[in-house]
Amino acid sequence: MRVGVLTGGGDCPGLNAVIRAVVRKGVSRYGFEFVGFRDGWRGPLEGDTKPLDIQAVRGILPRGGTILGSSRTNPLKIEGGVDRVRSNLATLGVDALIAIGGEDTLGVATALHQDGLKVIGVPKTIDNDLNATDYTFGFDTAVNIATEAIDRLHTTAESHHRVLIVEVMGRHAGWIALHSGMAGGANVILIPEVQFDIDQVCAYVESRFRTNYSPIIVVAEGATPKEGTMVLAAGELDAFGHVRLGGIGDMLAKEIEKRTGKEARTTVLGHIQRGGTPTAFDRWLATRFGLHAVDAVNDGDWGKMVALRRTDVVRVELSDATTELKLVSPELYEEAAVFFG
Ligand code: F6P
Repeated sequence: MRVGVLTGGGDCPGLNAVIRAVVRKGVSRYGFEFVGFRDGWRGPLEGDTKPLDIQAVRGILPRGGTILGSSRTNPLKIEGGVDRVRSNLATLGVDALIAIGGEDTLGVATALHQDGLKVIGVPKTIDNDLNATDYTFGFDTAVNIATEAIDRLHTTAESHHRVLIVEVMGRHAGWIALHSGMAGGANVILIPEVQFDIDQVCAYVESRFRTNYSPIIVVAEGATPKEGTMVLAAGELDAFGHVRLGGIGDMLAKEIEKRTGKEARTTVLGHIQRGGTPTAFDRWLATRFGLHAVDAVNDGDWGKMVALRRTDVVRVELSDATTELKLVSPELYEEAAVFFG
């Protein structure tokens, strides 16, 4: 069996750990051969490959990024894209594909599986917003990076009596903001699931200053104000139709300064949250996902995605995994709100 492997969408720490586990177990237990596709779906679309054997995966377990490269190429949006993928796989003698990605990459995997291709999915995203799995790898690393940043910002905020805003990633879901904000003792956490009231945010800021502490606000990049309360700038779209986010932190800072007269500054963590070495948890989870994905290939259990349920790795239908996002519930957000202000 010749198995293709690709990593698509925004990269995240742990991708290399999956690739390593897939190759190590696939070669040693099942005698598979592997073909690495470069840059997500662009690889199979253009027949762009790189060798993927035991030697190629030596030493990559703690390395961030992906040795295969990534992109947001969407073959479903390219005329004849699916046929090109199919014909390139046939020419290269690739029997099956392991696609490692988030909702977009796995959405393409689902469509290709429905079109008859032999595909297994592995969930990744620092956003942790894939519904079928309790956790995605990359998330824990991002939360730890954001928490360390919040810890550092507390001390400088106190020295200067400033409002410090930390903008974290999270397009549709506020998991990174919620976990890092709770772990870092933020005074306000703003997430995409709950539109915020700028008057309330300013009231929290003022109450924090009254107790002689400086407020730290953690805001997810996808958070939005209640309609008509603040003007937001629009961004450009990518191949999957997503707006390029970023900027809510600065908009908040201006509004808070205007309304409270307190100095407010923003730190945008951006891609720092996605770079560098994965935490031990993410290496562990990514490795287990890789081991189970290659088992699914050996079983011919096509159209499945590996997922973490409690501490078990199970297989779920790819189509179920990509239909709905996992969002922060109002109950969880309420837990964090005890510490606001
Ligand atoms: O989906 C993961 C993610 O990091 C989101 O949190 C973020 O909105 C997006 O990717 C950023 O994408 P890019 O790296 O293409 O700017």
